[in-house]
Amino acid sequence: MPMHEELHEIATAEQERQASVKHCIRVCMAAGCLSQHKDRIKIALQEQVQALGLEHDVEVKGVGCMGLCAIGPLVTVDGDILYEQVTPEDAEDIIKALDKKPVKRLLSSLEIPFFQRQERIVLENSGIVDPESLEDYLAHDGYAALSKALAEMMPGEVTEEITRSGLRGRGGGGYPTGLKWTTVAKAISDTKYVVCNADEGDPGAFMDRSVLESDPHRILEGMAIAGYAVGAQRGYVYVRAEYPLAIERLKNAIRVARRSNLLGPNILGTEFSFDIDIRLGAGAFVCGEETALMASIEGKRGNPRPRPPYPADHGLWGFPTLINNVETYANIAPIIRKGGDWFASIGTEKSKGTKVFALAGQIRNTGLIEVPMGITLREIVEEIGGGTTGEAGFKAVQTGGPSGGCIPGDYIDTPVDYDSLRELGSMMGSGGMIVIDNTSSMVDVAQYFMEFCMSESCGKCIPCRVGTAQMYNLLDRITKGQATTKDLALLEELCDLTANTSLCGLGQSAPNAVVSTLRYFREEYLAKLLDAPVEATAS
Ligand SMILES: Cc1cc2nc3c(=O)[nH]c(=O)nc-3n(C[C@H](O)[C@H](O)[C@H](O)COP(=O)(O)O)c2cc1C
Ligand code: SF4
Repeated sequence: MPMHEELHEIATAEQERQASVKHCIRVCMAAGCLSQHKDRIKIALQEQVQALGLEHDVEVKGVGCMGLCAIGPLVTVDGDILYEQVTPEDAEDIIKALDKKPVKRLLSSLEIPFFQRQERIVLENSGIVDPESLEDYLAHDGYAALSKALAEMMPGEVTEEITRSGLRGRGGGGYPTGLKWTTVAKAISDTKYVVCNADEGDPGAFMDRSVLESDPHRILEGMAIAGYAVGAQRGYVYVRAEYPLAIERLKNAIRVARRSNLLGPNILGTEFSFDIDIRLGAGAFVCGEETALMASIEGKRGNPRPRPPYPADHGLWGFPTLINNVETYANIAPIIRKGGDWFASIGTEKSKGTKVFALAGQIRNTGLIEVPMGITLREIVEEIGGGTTGEAGFKAVQTGGPSGGCIPGDYIDTPVDYDSLRELGSMMGSGGMIVIDNTSSMVDVAQYFMEFCMSESCGKCIPCRVGTAQMYNLLDRITKGQATTKDLALLEELCDLTANTSLCGLGQSAPNAVVSTLRYFREEYLAKLLDAPVEATAS
């Protein structure tokens, strides 16, 4: 029997098994919820099921992130009841309430805008499948895209499909994924590599970690399809060592995929061979920059180098290398399954599909969301996020992490897409979204991000090494009320200089937080100066 059919049979058998179970209880086992009671909620639920002899009727399943981390630990029953802030002590009541009325004191709702306003492609399995079960992934269309690509498509057709989808890189820059794949595919070399960038260094960002923890096979599938399309034999996932749960689940997924002929030699009985290894990063933000990342994989110090040459021509050990972000790979399987046109029908003209954001800051519903491109900031903040906490009111939203900027409340109706955010002086970035209310000083926000860039600068080039430190010192003097208009002018000059002369994206974008807060909140800077204009101090 061809391997493709074998996969189909396993998937069907698992679907039938799941359909035969009367109740499915899903317990969030992502890092956020686990941090409170470890796996004790799942164990307590399983014990109750056993105590009542319900093993054949009730399945208790550990799943990945459900998104609304603010009210975790979360548990769902049969996909339509959501329980919040669950403890192991609640297990008995939850099991006894099956077939009866839900437990009122724990009851939340899946009907709220937080869930209803989202559109899930990348996170379609998060909170649904067991990240440690290949069968569950297969039952949810897992590896169907790889199987389809190998059985029905030539490598060039796969690349064309990705190009048609309009997918752009989710790691920050928004480079067209199809174009990158085509460049690597065209490079002439017997050896090529595929790399998944899971370094995720932005403060507050946890999109990639969550995808790896919740749906690791999805990344392996996306990378294997990429390997087939560009002609690579080997892939690396570069993940920071601070993500132990993501690493453990990824390791498990790789082991199981190898055993099932989904990785390794002659995948699914074809001539395509591809394997994936994990490389751990030590948590340096700069190692997310692609040339630094490659140096780190090669065992060298993670310093960026000038580009060109680009990784597509001259990557790992000098060979053509495809580097994409976790979320980029997470979009690949659905695009191959449903077609590039389907993906291109979601989002805006130049920003297709969806984007995952880690919603944080002074907002009610903190957590992980996935929204169609083109949704407005207002819809995210007010509807999905439930508005700001406290009475102070919405002031700004910071997007794009240390490379991004702050967008003030006046622009809350801006659509979220690559170009609109850039026009406002911020950027999409990898998906950090921090909501700031009127109690916060924007100079403090700028200083926070500058301190981050200063400490994460690798020091290789002077404009960034010295520039970030000088800019930080100037911001420090401004916040302490010790600076003058001359200092502010010097700060602006340094922003310009650092942005234009630094070697890599870290230094080039380090001034963004200052530049964008100066653009929209200049009066806050002026009000702190010793020789501030009278009208500034009055405001
Ligand atoms: C300082 C710095 C840090 C970066 N960190 C990351 C990161 O953590 N994850 C990531 O995917 N891309 C990061 N990038 C962007 C990568 O260099 C690269 O563009 C990206 O991985 C390409 O994947 P994509 O096309 O799928 O977005 C970083 C860039 C810079 C300049
Ligand atoms: S810009 Fe900063 S992080 Fe990048 S190479 Fe120069 S010193 Fe290193």
